[in-house]
Amino acid sequence: MILSVNIDHVATVRQARQEDVPDPAHAAVEVLLGGADGITVHLRGDRRHIQERDLKALRLIVKTDLNLEMAATEEMARIAAEVKPDRVTLVPEAPGEVTTQGGLDLLKAPQDLAQYMSGLKSNGIRVGIFIDPDMDQMKEALRIGAAYVEINTNAYTKAKFVRDEIIRIARAAKAARRERLTVHAGHGIDYKNILPLLNIPEITGYSIGYAIVSRALFVGIRQAVSEMIEIIKGAR
Ligand code: PXP
Repeated sequence: MILSVNIDHVATVRQARQEDVPDPAHAAVEVLLGGADGITVHLRGDRRHIQERDLKALRLIVKTDLNLEMAATEEMARIAAEVKPDRVTLVPEAPGEVTTQGGLDLLKAPQDLAQYMSGLKSNGIRVGIFIDPDMDQMKEALRIGAAYVEINTNAYTKAKFVRDEIIRIARAAKAARRERLTVHAGHGIDYKNILPLLNIPEITGYSIGYAIVSRALFVGIRQAVSEMIEIIKGAR
């Protein structure tokens, strides 16, 4: 089971004052000491939180699993080829959005994503796609050669009645595993709503940011990470 901690919001705090601290590289060390398997950052086109220099520093520090979330643009392909994260998760990016809105719609992708992905793969980078829990999206991710999918859990985490959303996620995860796709989940996951997801054995990785960074304000980031790991382990 992989827990990758998204530390974008450490950079959000730093950028609020355009200072040098808090430093995402420092946070990454603490996160890894807390027991996480890896680090995720989203380098956005508008650079609102993580900067290119953060990514480069993280590449030197994170020897386990560095996951770069990015939009499928030429600029990002160039940066990924230079920095060589262990994996790239392709996400949609809309100007002005507060956070990622929905998964990448592979049925409406405006470009040849298979070709774009093979460029990344030729640099030794594993490529996954952030998609909604939808069978057609899943099939398309497989067809164009994704190594893994990250199922967007946002609708579930916001739903009043969660049962249908959990069923949707479980079905999509099962279908993906049948086709030998690795399945991760992420977006809006916290210390409580992760529990039903942990009953879906096909999900083998989690990308969690906001809840952990928020809790870190009160208990420190190492502790915030290790509390999440205890919950994940407890469900095994
Ligand atoms: N996965 C993806 C693709 C995301 O865009 C985000 C948010 O940056 C996350 C996971 C983490 O979501 P959260 O910060 O709500 O845990």
